[in-house]
Amino acid sequence: MPIFLDSSDIKEIKKFNEMGIIRGVTTNPSIIVKDGAKSFEEIKERTIDIAEEVHPLPVSVEVLTNEPKEMINQAEEINEWAYNINIKIPFHGPNGELDNLRVIRELTHLGIYINCTAMMSAQQCICAALAGARYVSLFGGRVNDMGYNCIDEIKKVRNILNRFDYEGDVELIIGSVREPLNIIEWIDAGADIVTVPPKILEKSLIHARTKETVQMFLEDAKKLKESI
Ligand code: E4P
Repeated sequence: MPIFLDSSDIKEIKKFNEMGIIRGVTTNPSIIVKDGAKSFEEIKERTIDIAEEVHPLPVSVEVLTNEPKEMINQAEEINEWAYNINIKIPFHGPNGELDNLRVIRELTHLGIYINCTAMMSAQQCICAALAGARYVSLFGGRVNDMGYNCIDEIKKVRNILNRFDYEGDVELIIGSVREPLNIIEWIDAGADIVTVPPKILEKSLIHARTKETVQMFLEDAKKLKESI
């Protein structure tokens, strides 16, 4: 289902979860640090709270290392924190290290759900799916920042996954949302999920004309002689 919350702020997660409009949560080390976590222990506590709040919905948590053996150990540890956690592994390291694909394959064989993250192209998404990732995350806003239109990449991934019957085995998440319009445009282009920061999700829901219309209804309602 199409909307995830891109946040580790438990108050915001609870708010949108109670509205019934989110179907999962994604986090990453930058989001978690921005939201105030200061240690691995605090990340653990926060993640367990989030997973409990939204279960059975999925929660993505990223490994904090680029070393393959450590990635595997951390992924196994984080995966034990709650049954609805999946592990984010970047497509490759900061110097283009491709060991990450081997790590994804190995973790998938251990039965751990992987969200392959930080991808900028259809080619990367398809290879992440081939390696076994359950979710493939394309960073739409960052693709657009480079002067491309991520909708082209979304359409390519969608078509290829459909053609080779990947439907259901892997879900295409588009992250890096920059404005409300991205949400519907990217779902419409073929994303299974768009993961949205709380501020942008809130902005996408409130409309000046809806405010004005409801104000009119309330003023007219006051004109009735009897009220219930
Ligand atoms: C997705 O899973 C990521 O957490 C996120 O959308 C990254 O977005 P950014 O480009 O704003 O860092």
